[in-house]
Amino acid sequence: MTIRDKDDWKDLYRNKESEPVPVFEYTQEVLDHFYNPRNVGRIDEPDGIGVAGDPDCGDNLLVTIRVDETTDRITDIRFLVYGCAGAVATSSAMTELAKGRTIEEALRLCDDDVIVVLGGLPDHKRHCSLIGIHALHAAVADYRDMRRQIQEGLVKDRAEYRVKTKKQSK
Ligand code: FES
Repeated sequence: MTIRDKDDWKDLYRNKESEPVPVFEYTQEVLDHFYNPRNVGRIDEPDGIGVAGDPDCGDNLLVTIRVDETTDRITDIRFLVYGCAGAVATSSAMTELAKGRTIEEALRLCDDDVIVVLGGLPDHKRHCSLIGIHALHAAVADYRDMRRQIQEGLVKDRAEYRVKTKKQSK
């Protein structure tokens, strides 16, 4: 097919009724998250930063979170991803699952939760759901480490923690 305008590329991922065997067996939920990803971007001066990737396919994901210190609840979450349609959709779904949860609840989320929300994933794409969950858990771990270091007086605030750990979201 010829790419004519900025939205034509999306047709590459649609199953054609005329095709007896679908090229991509994505559910409507996956396609919706892929075409309209939620919570894209990065939070300025985030409370937690998580990075995850799959060396086999080269996909990479950055997750940033804002956490309400008094409730330990994730009030905002953003992602930037370099990857396949599955990586985009699973990252987007993961952010919707995590937003509003406490960090303990977020740590209990697993790739199967993402797959359920998406109504399933083709077998060869199931690994895509892992990078979202790994990056979320890494962001929570980063937040916890920052809180601990501040409480123990090892750093005085978030800015100093970022300098010390050399972990930046930009
Ligand atoms: Fe790498 Fe989807 S193919 S995460």
